[in-house]
Amino acid sequence: MKKNISRREWINKSATVIGGSFLGSMIGFSPLKGASLLKEPVRMMYNENPYGPSDIAKRAMRRAFSESNLYTMRAALSEFKNLIAELNNVKPENVAIGFGSREILNKAAIMNGIEGGELISPTLTFEAINQFASKTMKTNVVRVPMTKEIGIDLKTTGQMVNSKTNMVYLCNPNNPTGVIMKPKELEVFCKETSKKSIVFVDEAYHEYVMDKQYRSMVSLVNEGCDVLISRTASKVHGLAGLRVGYAISTPKIIKRLNSYMNGSLNVVGLRGAIASYKDKRFQKFSIEKNNEGRTIVTDYLDKKGIEYLDSQTNFIFIKTGIDIKKFQPAMEKHKVLVGRPFPPYTDWCRLSIAKPEEMESFNKGFNKELG
Ligand SMILES: Cc1ncc(COP(=O)(O)O)c(C=O)c1O
Repeated sequence: MKKNISRREWINKSATVIGGSFLGSMIGFSPLKGASLLKEPVRMMYNENPYGPSDIAKRAMRRAFSESNLYTMRAALSEFKNLIAELNNVKPENVAIGFGSREILNKAAIMNGIEGGELISPTLTFEAINQFASKTMKTNVVRVPMTKEIGIDLKTTGQMVNSKTNMVYLCNPNNPTGVIMKPKELEVFCKETSKKSIVFVDEAYHEYVMDKQYRSMVSLVNEGCDVLISRTASKVHGLAGLRVGYAISTPKIIKRLNSYMNGSLNVVGLRGAIASYKDKRFQKFSIEKNNEGRTIVTDYLDKKGIEYLDSQTNFIFIKTGIDIKKFQPAMEKHKVLVGRPFPPYTDWCRLSIAKPEEMESFNKGFNKELG
């Protein structure tokens, strides 16, 4: 039977269906499951920030709705670029703004492919650039096995760089492991390798890192090294659905990258990002809550003697000992959605950190599965 719905409900429903089918087809998972209006199941599968956007960002975005008929996104983009440059102690010509950092990854893959080079990447990492490079650009992607400790093997990666290599992709902290690379080793690697090839360092989780040893590779840009850093507003800022990310590199690489970029973002997302990057209070709050939530799980895992990796992010890689293809549906029955399989680590699970009060659902569900 046809049900009368209000105009507001209709708009909400249409937006959800359009957004849902787009995302669903992108990642093969119904994104409507656990959408933010629902309390259950708890979304612990996509490394989202359960608290975002900040109130200040929301206010800025509400104001930006009334700009939606104008081409003011150009001014907003330039304002955001200047802000990112200032926050990172680089010049605006060192910065490119993308439709999420995924645009940076995809366009870097296009740039690499068109320029005819090979890409080198670890076996276990964020797959976007590898998939785009191999499937869309038909680029040869050379994969480097992980170390025994499931770390990125910089030594072997360095040895694999050859005359065909145009780009090396490293994710720090890595996804799905959450682990950081040793800063000195990474710095030496970047300095040496960038003489032969672009080193792309994906720092999507940079803000979450607590380890005092950690260092971003942005400073190498000012030294003139051919490194390309990407970051995102999707994580600590909780703006994943608005698609804002950025790259920092040498002016020459930024110019090359920009020639492939869309160069146009929506004004609401940009205004939200500008407000959010200035909102230090919210960033601190997100990080503290994340640490709190992660500790609830690690305390439980320690008590049970279950292995996990040292996460510096908003997710944690856990050796459940249960095949992830069985573990995923089993946890869904406990109203917890966990990360996808990451072969060959099939008895591991990537668990995203939700609100602290929600993390107990994982512990309880996992406990039942352990019998
Ligand atoms: C390591 C890494 N890089 C990049 C991205 C893409 O983020 P976005 O396109 O939302 O900026 C993600 C998303 O989860 C990620 O984990």
